[in-house]
Amino acid sequence: LSTIRVDISTLQPGTQLTVKYLGKPVFIRRRTAEEIAAEQDVDVDSLIDPIARNPNVGGDAPATDANRALDADGEWLVQIGVCTHLGCVPIGDGAGDYSGWFCPCHGSHYDGAGRIRKGPAPENLHIPVAEFVDETTIKLG
Ligand code: FES
Repeated sequence: LSTIRVDISTLQPGTQLTVKYLGKPVFIRRRTAEEIAAEQDVDVDSLIDPIARNPNVGGDAPATDANRALDADGEWLVQIGVCTHLGCVPIGDGAGDYSGWFCPCHGSHYDGAGRIRKGPAPENLHIPVAEFVDETTIKLG
């Protein structure tokens, strides 16, 4: 299986970058304290898709903010940038009604943890296998 290493040393809080991995965009966002707090407050019972969709925490873990983030502080969110409806690439940087990502193809709104909140997409944005290999490097795969 191929892996890639991404240097995230220049990413400031409140910004994100997109890399290509296995032919798909992967969104890496460094969230602000405000973004993290807002997403931690979301009631999992209110979600369209209650599953984290994160292979790093296991198959059917609930879609809490902690189970979506890569690190214990919740600062880093790594997601496959493919809408779970029909595969368009959502717009990020706080887009949509839930301050996260918005897919313009048919109007799916994802929150700041990449969880689907409104629109036709059935699942939260998927998370790739990922880990920190040092303080400034994330390995995908
Ligand atoms: Fe994203 Fe349809 S592909 S809403």
